[in-house]
Amino acid sequence: MNPTDNLRAIARVIDARIDALLAEYRAHTLIDAMAHSLAGGKRVRGSLVMEGAAIHGLEGVGPERAAVAIECLHAYSMIHDDMPCMDDDEMRRGAPTVHVKWDEATAILSGDALQAMAFEILADVPTSPDPAIRARLVHGLALASGAAGMVRGQADDIAAEQRSEPFTLDQIAALQRDKTGRLLIWSCEAGALLADADPAPLRRYGAAIGTAFQIADDLLDVTGDQERVGKKLRKDSGASKATFVSLLGEQGARRRAEELAGEACAAIAHFGKRADMLRDMAWFIVRRDH
Ligand code: IPE
Ligand code: IPE
Ligand code: MG
Ligand code: MG
Ligand code: MG
Repeated sequence: MNPTDNLRAIARVIDARIDALLAEYRAHTLIDAMAHSLAGGKRVRGSLVMEGAAIHGLEGVGPERAAVAIECLHAYSMIHDDMPCMDDDEMRRGAPTVHVKWDEATAILSGDALQAMAFEILADVPTSPDPAIRARLVHGLALASGAAGMVRGQADDIAAEQRSEPFTLDQIAALQRDKTGRLLIWSCEAGALLADADPAPLRRYGAAIGTAFQIADDLLDVTGDQERVGKKLRKDSGASKATFVSLLGEQGARRRAEELAGEACAAIAHFGKRADMLRDMAWFIVRRDH
């Protein structure tokens, strides 16, 4: 199997677990909107959870639930990111965004519910029999997603569009670390936390692919095929937003992303062949076309 086939196979396992967990709620428009927003993602974050667990010998329900939790958190962040008051986007994952298909109230509320669902899943016993492990997962995800993490990065990103002078490279790197990096780092370390192992190597891997992932997103905004990517592109230059591409140029950004993939692989070298899939994922993240 090539890396993309591997990723697709893991994504199918995560999709089945998403369906099972959503089916636990009583039918409601809110649940339809949540299911809609979850459909069609690449499941990069969930797959990182599953592979981070697998290299520690852990498979099955626990990692699958943690994978769904991060995909719920990510889907919530996308619903709100696409709203008219933020990026004002009408297409996501090749389908209409939630505020377009339903309305803004449904977008806010289904996002809110997905955020709660992420913590609901992590805090519940089938995720791990050890309450201390569940608490570490919950605490880590709260830190990664809130005022010290993703939400902070999103606020800075919006503020950046109103600035008269563009950010420097260091400022952009810090902003992107919060906006995209923190959730990706959590995704990488969750497997180690589930296995009660040292999360440091996966955190280092996650920090490198976190930045690489956002560089790839910025590159896709400039060079990607809109049908393939499934969301509106050429938005960053329109908003004259400072990104890795606007600061480093296309070639420079691509080179930096590849360097970071190399750094990510170095951080997990000691896992040997067991980490082949994580190595493939690092290269997929920088070379992806969607
Ligand atoms: C897109 O994330 C948004 C960013 C954080 C840059 P993905 O590229 O992982 O989107 P999906 O989950 O596959 O739709
Ligand atoms: C969104 O970043 C990141 C989060 C929601 C955390 P972008 O605004 O660049 O993502 P896309 O390009 O809309 O997917
Ligand atoms: Mg945005
Ligand atoms: Mg956006
Ligand atoms: Mg983007």
